[in-house]
Amino acid sequence: MTGPQLLLRQLRREAEGIVSYEFVSASGAPLPAFTAGAHIDLHLPDALLRSYSLVNEPGERHRYVVAVDRAAGGRGGSAWMHSTPRPGDRLASSLPVNDFPLYEDAPLSIFIAGGIGITPFVSMAARLNTLGRAWRLHYSVRSRHRAAYVRELNALDRSGNAVNLHCTGEDMERPDIAAIVREAPAGSHLYCCGPSGMLDAFASACSGLPPQRVHLERFSASQEAATTGGYEVQLARSGKTLSVEAGKSLLDTLLDAGVPVQYSCSQGICGTCCMPVLEGTPDHRDDYLSNEEKAANQSIMVCCSGSLTQRLVLDV
Ligand code: FES
Repeated sequence: MTGPQLLLRQLRREAEGIVSYEFVSASGAPLPAFTAGAHIDLHLPDALLRSYSLVNEPGERHRYVVAVDRAAGGRGGSAWMHSTPRPGDRLASSLPVNDFPLYEDAPLSIFIAGGIGITPFVSMAARLNTLGRAWRLHYSVRSRHRAAYVRELNALDRSGNAVNLHCTGEDMERPDIAAIVREAPAGSHLYCCGPSGMLDAFASACSGLPPQRVHLERFSASQEAATTGGYEVQLARSGKTLSVEAGKSLLDTLLDAGVPVQYSCSQGICGTCCMPVLEGTPDHRDDYLSNEEKAANQSIMVCCSGSLTQRLVLDV
Protein backbone atom coordinates (compact mmCIF):
# COMPACT_ATOMS: atom_id res chain seq x y z
CA MET A 1 0.00 0.00 0.00
CA THR A 2 1.75 3.11 -1.19
CA GLY A 3 1.78 5.84 1.37
CA PRO A 4 3.42 9.20 1.86
CA GLN A 5 7.05 10.22 1.56
CA LEU A 6 8.21 11.16 5.03
CA LEU A 7 10.80 13.66 6.15
CA LEU A 8 12.59 12.89 9.39
CA ARG A 9 12.26 15.95 11.60
CA GLN A 10 13.85 14.73 14.80
CA LEU A 11 15.25 11.76 16.69
CA ARG A 12 14.95 11.50 20.44
CA ARG A 13 16.38 9.03 22.93
CA GLU A 14 13.37 7.71 24.85
CA ALA A 15 15.14 5.15 27.04
CA GLU A 16 18.24 2.97 27.01
CA GLY A 17 18.38 1.42 23.51
CA ILE A 18 15.14 3.07 22.38
CA VAL A 19 15.03 6.01 19.98
CA SER A 20 11.94 7.74 18.63
CA TYR A 21 11.65 9.24 15.14
CA GLU A 22 9.32 12.09 14.35
CA PHE A 23 8.40 12.22 10.68
CA VAL A 24 6.49 14.93 8.88
CA SER A 25 5.04 14.91 5.38
CA ALA A 26 7.73 15.54 2.76
CA SER A 27 5.16 17.26 0.52
CA GLY A 28 3.73 19.40 3.29
CA ALA A 29 0.25 17.90 2.74
CA PRO A 30 -1.53 16.49 5.81
CA LEU A 31 -0.55 12.89 6.49
CA PRO A 32 -3.17 10.15 6.09
CA ALA A 33 -5.22 9.78 9.28
CA PHE A 34 -4.68 6.81 11.60
CA THR A 35 -6.42 5.22 14.55
CA ALA A 36 -4.95 4.16 17.89
CA GLY A 37 -2.95 0.93 17.60
CA ALA A 38 -2.06 1.50 13.91
CA HIS A 39 1.39 0.98 12.43
CA ILE A 40 3.24 2.13 9.34
CA ASP A 41 5.66 0.10 7.23
CA LEU A 42 8.83 2.04 6.50
CA HIS A 43 10.79 1.21 3.34
CA LEU A 44 14.43 0.82 4.37
CA PRO A 45 17.40 0.10 2.07
CA ASP A 46 17.84 -3.38 0.50
CA ALA A 47 14.07 -3.74 0.06
CA LEU A 48 13.56 -4.09 3.81
CA LEU A 49 10.10 -3.19 5.05
CA ARG A 50 9.75 -2.65 8.76
CA SER A 51 6.52 -2.17 10.70
CA TYR A 52 6.43 0.29 13.58
CA SER A 53 3.48 1.25 15.78
CA LEU A 54 2.51 4.89 15.73
CA VAL A 55 3.10 6.37 19.16
CA ASN A 56 1.57 9.79 18.74
CA GLU A 57 -2.02 10.76 19.30
CA PRO A 58 -4.56 9.63 16.71
CA GLY A 59 -5.99 12.66 15.02
CA GLU A 60 -2.58 14.26 14.49
CA ARG A 61 -2.12 14.77 10.76
CA HIS A 62 1.09 16.77 10.90
CA ARG A 63 3.39 13.97 12.08
CA TYR A 64 3.99 10.25 12.58
CA VAL A 65 6.10 9.20 15.56
CA VAL A 66 7.57 5.70 15.88
CA ALA A 67 10.05 4.24 18.36
CA VAL A 68 12.63 1.57 17.63
CA ASP A 69 14.37 -0.73 20.09
CA ARG A 70 17.93 -1.49 19.10
CA ALA A 71 17.80 -4.82 20.90
CA ALA A 72 14.48 -6.12 19.59
CA GLY A 73 14.83 -8.33 16.54
CA GLY A 74 18.12 -6.81 15.45
CA ARG A 75 17.64 -8.26 11.95
CA GLY A 76 18.98 -5.29 10.08
CA GLY A 77 16.06 -2.90 10.28
CA SER A 78 16.53 -1.76 13.87
CA ALA A 79 20.31 -1.58 13.49
CA TRP A 80 19.93 0.60 10.39
CA MET A 81 17.35 2.83 12.07
CA HIS A 82 19.69 3.37 15.01
CA SER A 83 22.78 4.11 12.94
CA THR A 84 21.79 5.87 9.75
CA PRO A 85 18.81 8.23 9.45
CA ARG A 86 19.43 11.86 10.31
CA PRO A 87 17.05 14.84 10.43
CA GLY A 88 16.24 15.94 6.90
CA ASP A 89 16.40 12.39 5.47
CA ARG A 90 13.44 11.07 3.51
CA LEU A 91 11.83 7.65 3.83
CA ALA A 92 8.89 6.09 2.00
CA SER A 93 6.06 4.81 4.16
CA SER A 94 2.97 2.70 3.70
CA LEU A 95 -0.42 4.08 4.58
CA PRO A 96 -1.23 3.48 8.25
CA VAL A 97 -2.65 0.00 8.86
CA ASN A 98 -4.40 -1.09 12.04
CA ASP A 99 -4.20 -4.78 12.97
CA PHE A 100 -4.48 -3.96 16.68
CA PRO A 101 -7.47 -1.63 16.93
CA LEU A 102 -8.72 -0.10 20.15
CA TYR A 103 -12.27 -0.95 21.19
CA GLU A 104 -13.29 2.57 22.15
CA ASP A 105 -16.55 1.81 23.98
CA ALA A 106 -15.10 -0.47 26.67
CA PRO A 107 -15.76 0.75 30.23
CA LEU A 108 -12.14 -0.16 31.04
CA SER A 109 -9.18 -1.05 28.81
CA ILE A 110 -6.38 -3.02 30.42
CA PHE A 111 -2.99 -2.89 28.68
CA ILE A 112 -0.14 -5.34 29.33
CA ALA A 113 3.14 -4.32 27.68
CA GLY A 114 6.61 -5.83 27.59
CA GLY A 115 9.57 -3.68 26.48
CA ILE A 116 9.05 -1.90 23.17
CA GLY A 117 5.52 -3.36 23.15
CA ILE A 118 4.56 -0.19 25.02
CA THR A 119 4.35 1.86 21.81
CA PRO A 120 0.75 1.20 20.68
CA PHE A 121 -0.50 1.79 24.22
CA VAL A 122 0.83 5.34 24.37
CA SER A 123 -1.41 6.25 21.48
CA MET A 124 -4.32 4.22 22.87
CA ALA A 125 -4.10 5.82 26.33
CA ALA A 126 -4.13 9.28 24.74
CA ARG A 127 -7.18 8.35 22.68
CA LEU A 128 -9.04 6.97 25.70
CA ASN A 129 -8.28 10.15 27.64
CA THR A 130 -9.81 12.16 24.81
CA LEU A 131 -12.90 9.94 25.00
CA GLY A 132 -13.01 10.11 28.80
CA ARG A 133 -12.64 6.32 29.09
CA ALA A 134 -10.69 4.50 31.79
CA TRP A 135 -7.52 2.50 31.14
CA ARG A 136 -4.94 0.67 33.21
CA LEU A 137 -1.40 -0.32 32.21
CA HIS A 138 0.98 -3.05 33.39
CA TYR A 139 4.37 -2.32 31.84
CA SER A 140 7.18 -4.82 32.23
CA VAL A 141 10.81 -3.84 31.52
CA ARG A 142 14.19 -5.15 32.62
CA SER A 143 15.15 -1.89 34.30
CA ARG A 144 13.63 1.55 34.67
CA HIS A 145 16.32 2.91 32.33
CA ARG A 146 14.76 0.83 29.58
CA ALA A 147 11.22 2.08 30.25
CA ALA A 148 10.20 4.44 27.44
CA TYR A 149 7.31 6.90 27.63
CA VAL A 150 6.80 6.63 31.39
CA ARG A 151 6.64 10.40 31.79
CA GLU A 152 4.05 10.72 29.02
CA LEU A 153 1.97 7.87 30.43
CA ASN A 154 2.08 9.29 33.93
CA ALA A 155 0.94 12.63 32.52
CA LEU A 156 -2.01 10.85 30.86
CA ASP A 157 -2.86 8.97 34.07
CA ARG A 158 -5.69 11.05 35.51
CA SER A 159 -6.47 8.58 38.30
CA GLY A 160 -2.87 8.55 39.50
CA ASN A 161 -2.80 4.75 39.76
CA ALA A 162 -3.30 3.54 36.20
CA VAL A 163 0.40 3.03 35.39
CA ASN A 164 2.01 -0.02 37.01
CA LEU A 165 5.69 -0.36 36.16
CA HIS A 166 7.37 -3.74 36.72
CA CYS A 167 11.18 -3.55 36.53
CA THR A 168 11.92 -7.26 36.52
CA GLY A 169 15.70 -6.86 36.78
CA GLU A 170 15.33 -4.73 39.91
CA ASP A 171 13.77 -7.31 42.22
CA MET A 172 10.28 -6.32 41.20
CA GLU A 173 7.62 -8.91 40.43
CA ARG A 174 6.65 -9.62 36.85
CA PRO A 175 3.05 -8.69 36.15
CA ASP A 176 0.84 -11.59 37.27
CA ILE A 177 -0.97 -11.94 33.98
CA ALA A 178 -3.30 -14.68 35.17
CA ALA A 179 -4.39 -12.52 38.13
CA ILE A 180 -4.80 -9.40 35.98
CA VAL A 181 -7.06 -11.33 33.61
CA ARG A 182 -8.94 -13.09 36.43
CA GLU A 183 -9.62 -9.81 38.23
CA ALA A 184 -10.54 -7.79 35.12
CA PRO A 185 -14.00 -6.28 35.62
CA ALA A 186 -16.81 -7.61 33.44
CA GLY A 187 -16.91 -5.87 30.08
CA SER A 188 -13.30 -4.68 30.18
CA HIS A 189 -11.11 -5.27 27.14
CA LEU A 190 -7.63 -6.70 27.54
CA TYR A 191 -4.64 -5.95 25.32
CA CYS A 192 -1.13 -7.36 25.28
CA CYS A 193 1.92 -6.44 23.20
CA GLY A 194 5.34 -7.79 24.07
CA PRO A 195 7.65 -10.77 23.74
CA SER A 196 6.38 -14.23 22.90
CA GLY A 197 6.46 -15.61 26.44
CA MET A 198 4.28 -12.77 27.68
CA LEU A 199 1.85 -13.15 24.78
CA ASP A 200 1.61 -16.89 25.28
CA ALA A 201 0.85 -16.40 28.99
CA PHE A 202 -1.73 -13.77 28.10
CA ALA A 203 -3.38 -15.94 25.44
CA SER A 204 -3.59 -18.85 27.83
CA ALA A 205 -4.93 -16.69 30.70
CA CYS A 206 -7.60 -15.27 28.37
CA SER A 207 -8.65 -18.59 26.86
CA GLY A 208 -11.97 -18.56 28.73
CA LEU A 209 -12.90 -14.99 27.76
CA PRO A 210 -14.96 -13.98 24.75
CA PRO A 211 -12.39 -13.45 21.97
CA GLN A 212 -13.77 -10.00 21.11
CA ARG A 213 -12.52 -8.75 24.51
CA VAL A 214 -8.99 -10.06 23.98
CA HIS A 215 -6.43 -8.32 21.75
CA LEU A 216 -2.78 -9.13 21.24
CA GLU A 217 0.00 -7.99 18.95
CA ARG A 218 3.18 -9.95 18.43
CA PHE A 219 6.49 -8.39 17.51
CA SER A 220 8.63 -11.49 17.82
CA ALA A 221 7.96 -15.00 16.61
CA SER A 222 6.55 -17.69 18.89
CA GLN A 223 8.22 -20.50 16.90
CA GLU A 224 11.53 -21.09 15.19
CA ALA A 225 11.54 -20.71 11.40
CA ALA A 226 11.52 -23.96 9.39
CA THR A 227 15.03 -24.42 8.05
CA THR A 228 15.44 -28.17 7.85
CA GLY A 229 14.89 -28.06 4.06
CA GLY A 230 14.85 -31.29 2.08
CA TYR A 231 11.83 -30.50 -0.09
CA GLU A 232 11.07 -28.95 -3.47
CA VAL A 233 9.05 -25.88 -4.18
CA GLN A 234 7.45 -25.54 -7.58
CA LEU A 235 6.42 -22.11 -8.85
CA ALA A 236 3.26 -22.79 -10.86
CA ARG A 237 3.31 -19.68 -13.03
CA SER A 238 6.92 -19.87 -14.15
CA GLY A 239 7.17 -23.66 -14.01
CA LYS A 240 10.44 -23.35 -12.05
CA THR A 241 11.27 -25.92 -9.39
CA LEU A 242 13.66 -25.05 -6.57
CA SER A 243 15.24 -27.28 -3.94
CA VAL A 244 15.07 -25.96 -0.40
CA GLU A 245 18.30 -27.02 1.23
CA ALA A 246 18.90 -27.74 4.89
CA GLY A 247 19.80 -24.58 6.79
CA LYS A 248 17.86 -22.33 4.42
CA SER A 249 14.44 -20.83 4.75
CA LEU A 250 11.92 -20.93 1.93
CA LEU A 251 12.18 -17.13 1.69
CA ASP A 252 15.97 -17.24 1.25
CA THR A 253 15.60 -19.96 -1.38
CA LEU A 254 13.12 -17.85 -3.35
CA LEU A 255 15.19 -14.67 -3.06
CA ASP A 256 18.40 -16.44 -4.06
CA ALA A 257 16.62 -17.71 -7.18
CA GLY A 258 15.63 -14.15 -8.08
CA VAL A 259 11.93 -14.59 -7.27
CA PRO A 260 10.55 -11.19 -6.21
CA VAL A 261 9.05 -11.59 -2.74
CA GLN A 262 7.66 -8.79 -0.63
CA TYR A 263 8.54 -9.33 3.01
CA SER A 264 8.85 -7.28 6.14
CA CYS A 265 9.13 -8.81 9.63
CA SER A 266 10.79 -12.09 8.49
CA GLN A 267 9.23 -13.67 11.56
CA GLY A 268 5.74 -14.76 10.53
CA ILE A 269 4.03 -11.84 12.21
CA CYS A 270 3.11 -9.19 9.67
CA GLY A 271 1.59 -11.23 6.81
CA THR A 272 3.51 -9.41 4.05
CA CYS A 273 5.11 -12.54 2.56
CA CYS A 274 1.90 -14.57 2.25
CA MET A 275 1.76 -16.78 -0.88
CA PRO A 276 -1.05 -18.99 -2.20
CA VAL A 277 -0.48 -22.75 -2.00
CA LEU A 278 -1.84 -25.00 -4.77
CA GLU A 279 -0.46 -28.37 -3.63
CA GLY A 280 1.38 -29.80 -0.65
CA THR A 281 1.11 -29.25 3.10
CA PRO A 282 2.96 -26.30 4.59
CA ASP A 283 4.76 -26.62 7.90
CA HIS A 284 3.14 -23.48 9.32
CA ARG A 285 5.40 -21.61 11.74
CA ASP A 286 3.80 -18.17 11.60
CA ASP A 287 1.72 -16.18 14.08
CA TYR A 288 -0.31 -14.49 11.36
CA LEU A 289 -2.70 -17.08 9.91
CA SER A 290 -5.59 -18.29 12.08
CA ASN A 291 -5.78 -21.97 13.04
CA GLU A 292 -8.56 -22.38 10.46
CA GLU A 293 -6.43 -20.79 7.73
CA LYS A 294 -3.51 -23.02 8.66
CA ALA A 295 -5.71 -26.11 8.52
CA ALA A 296 -6.98 -25.09 5.06
CA ASN A 297 -3.36 -25.09 3.75
CA GLN A 298 -4.17 -22.57 1.06
CA SER A 299 -1.58 -19.99 2.12
CA ILE A 300 1.93 -19.96 3.48
CA MET A 301 4.14 -17.33 5.10
CA VAL A 302 7.33 -18.07 3.21
CA CYS A 303 9.60 -16.17 5.61
CA CYS A 304 9.29 -18.76 8.36
CA SER A 305 7.22 -21.73 7.21
CA GLY A 306 8.39 -24.82 5.35
CA SER A 307 6.83 -27.96 3.95
CA LEU A 308 5.64 -31.21 5.50
CA THR A 309 5.40 -32.78 2.05
CA GLN A 310 8.18 -33.51 -0.42
CA ARG A 311 6.74 -30.99 -2.86
CA LEU A 312 5.02 -27.67 -2.35
CA VAL A 313 3.38 -25.89 -5.30
CA LEU A 314 2.95 -22.13 -4.96
CA ASP A 315 0.72 -19.99 -7.16
CA VAL A 316 3.49 -17.58 -8.12
S1 FES B 1 7.55 -11.21 6.31
FE1 FES B 1 6.17 -10.86 7.90
S2 FES B 1 5.02 -12.70 7.91
FE2 FES B 1 6.60 -13.09 6.54
